[in-house]
Amino acid sequence: MLKRKQISTNFIYFFGALGGLLFGYDTGVISGAMLFIGKELGIKTGSFEDGFITASVLLGAIIGAAIIGPMSDKFGRKKLLLFSSIIFFIGALGSGIGITYIMLVSSRILLGIAVGAASALIPTYLAELSPADKRGGVGTLFQLMIMTGIFLAYVSNEWLSPNGWLGLDQNVGWHWMLGLAAIPAALLFIGGLSLPESPRFLVKKGKIDEAKNVLLTMNKDEKLVEEEMHDIKLQAGIPSGGFKELFGPMSRPVLIMALGLAIFQQVMGANTVLYYAPKIFISAGFSEQFALQSHIAIGLFNVIVTAIAVKIMDKIDRKKMLTYGAIGMGTSLLTMSTAMLLLKAGNGNLGSWICVIALALYIAFFSATWGPVMWVMIGEAFPLNIRGLGNSFGAVINWTANFAVSQSFPMLLIAFTPMHAVNAEGQGIAKLFIIYGILCFVAIWFIAKFTMETRNKSLESIEAGLRSRAHAKGYTDK
Ligand code: BGC
Repeated sequence: MLKRKQISTNFIYFFGALGGLLFGYDTGVISGAMLFIGKELGIKTGSFEDGFITASVLLGAIIGAAIIGPMSDKFGRKKLLLFSSIIFFIGALGSGIGITYIMLVSSRILLGIAVGAASALIPTYLAELSPADKRGGVGTLFQLMIMTGIFLAYVSNEWLSPNGWLGLDQNVGWHWMLGLAAIPAALLFIGGLSLPESPRFLVKKGKIDEAKNVLLTMNKDEKLVEEEMHDIKLQAGIPSGGFKELFGPMSRPVLIMALGLAIFQQVMGANTVLYYAPKIFISAGFSEQFALQSHIAIGLFNVIVTAIAVKIMDKIDRKKMLTYGAIGMGTSLLTMSTAMLLLKAGNGNLGSWICVIALALYIAFFSATWGPVMWVMIGEAFPLNIRGLGNSFGAVINWTANFAVSQSFPMLLIAFTPMHAVNAEGQGIAKLFIIYGILCFVAIWFIAKFTMETRNKSLESIEAGLRSRAHAKGYTDK
């Protein structure tokens, strides 16, 4: 038997999830940096080039998520996590230096590839490393890191802007905003070197002792570990499946579930609400300063709510979390829109405060439920022999939906904004949010009809459930 290397589980979960921080930072930092990039690089606001600086990360993420899954089933989760951290580092430095437009967008695409790869890799890695009764909480650490990254991005936007705490020159600050992401990228690489490989992957590669040692690090109960090893070995014996299996009858229920969760998580509007929060506050009659400061406060609030979600994730069924989350998000969005349209929110009146409270509630519901649960579920639900591939699929769909929602928002906003009205843009936002609100209620129907409960079940029993359901319909394992 190999000598057991003692690493603390906190260390493993922290570095295992750290890629989420880069995900959050790199997607969150651009809104602040954009205010100055255009001026220095001579890019017109509203032009294609302007939009592409933001969109490039999303496009890169779609590519990164697509390629990483099949690779992670082949080369393992850890190696690719390390590889992603190197791409993160190069992308962060390149966009921070960003002396030309081409350099900036190609570095942002590279960053996107790493962000997408991390989003498909980390949920699987964390799910495969945690005991069934802690898996939801551990998986939620990924979302906690995303939210922390977004928060840090807001803080760095504030501190490094010309009017901010450090008061840097406008042609200097944005380079730092983007380049600072190289620090966590380097940290991820260094910490990642000591991370264990996923035990499920090790068993699949025949490294039985090593796999057992990793499981023993996470769970001191030898008997339980033996049982787990037994189940993993059974499933690892099933030959690796490819796209045929991913789209085949056995995986179909998970595939539909992943597809729906990934799309709904985006079309319920979370990214646009987060992004437009300051504008909503201004439309509701608050000062610009209040709006900007509240953005940072919202970022912090997000982190706190997600930290609470880590604690409750394994105590409440995932389906319930998603249903309550969708009810809460839908109700708060519709309330916010009503306050803007009917109560004519403005100048700190009752309508304005209803807007602020509804927006905070919406974000709290998202952060505690749909934000983490979607990633947790797509990380745990696919069978071992297509887990990497399946997670890639979910992540690609999520990033594509993210891209579609964020690219269509400005156009839809113009279409929904009345020509002549007091606070016209506020009215446009309110009408558009009604659509996202309605989609939250459609999501409830989807959860009831197309999702399965995964809380507190071992990965192996989730898979066994899928197989026996398929066998009952006449499908056989190869
Ligand atoms: C979503 C991202 C979002 C982030 C923060 C994640 O779960 O997938 O699209 O930006 O949460 O809200």
